[in-house]
Amino acid sequence: MACEFNQAEEYSKVNKRQTEDGLELIGRLNPQPGQKVLDLGCGTGNITKVLAERVNPGTVLGIDVDPSRVEIAKERCAAANLDYALGGTDKIPGEDYDLIFCNYVLHWVTDNANVFGPIASKLKPGGRFAFILLDVITQQMIDEHLGWATEQFKQGFLCRLKGLSISDVEKLAAENGFEVEDIRPGAYALEFDNVEEYMEGYLVHGGLSRKMFDENKIREFYGSEKVKMNLRTTVAILRKK
Ligand SMILES: C[S@@+](CC[C@H](N)C(=O)[O-])C[C@H]1O[C@@H](n2cnc3c(N)ncnc32)[C@H](O)[C@@H]1O
Repeated sequence: MACEFNQAEEYSKVNKRQTEDGLELIGRLNPQPGQKVLDLGCGTGNITKVLAERVNPGTVLGIDVDPSRVEIAKERCAAANLDYALGGTDKIPGEDYDLIFCNYVLHWVTDNANVFGPIASKLKPGGRFAFILLDVITQQMIDEHLGWATEQFKQGFLCRLKGLSISDVEKLAAENGFEVEDIRPGAYALEFDNVEEYMEGYLVHGGLSRKMFDENKIREFYGSEKVKMNLRTTVAILRKK
């Protein structure tokens, strides 16, 4: 659908910060030539392509639930050792992966506590599950960042996001046969030059429709200032026992 395609187009313009964090995580993972990798929630493929370069002649599969992002990835981030397909945490294709990489995806998966088991089953023994997701979203953060919104909107937004803290991840790792190789907090700070950019950022990140905002209220709340958001992330590398 054209509309979704446009959202994916917009998204690929604003995800710079997430890409930088993902590349930093790849640097620490140091994937090796010959490895088999799944990029779960690959988006428009810019990081997936880097993974493919790193493991060549190994292979990478990038999957995403959004058909328009998969299309963009196929068009713009192709490589001989790289495939893209529609798919997601509900039904993970393939098996025996050395690495399942998941950058800024799991907070959109409201039952994310239930994906650790299926992911473990798709890894080789010793294989790694590496991810960045938002830390638990507190009411205070919501009030600070969505101060312009109605209570109904805030609660709706809160319901769509399921962050995990370091201790949540440690518990889920232990319950699902992983040992923690590395876990640390991260900062996710976004700055939009103006309210217009901020609304686009929300549209594409949250899949929200403009009809859901009262634009005047947002402008009033922020004035003509830059819009700053400071959120926290949980960054983890887990190893299957
Ligand atoms: C913030 S984007 C990150 C994309 C990419 N990982 C990156 O770093 O550029 C989140 C992606 O997760 C995808 N997504 C959401 N729920 C998913 C699920 N259950 N399984 C797989 N992908 C999902 C979205 O379609 C979107 O492309």
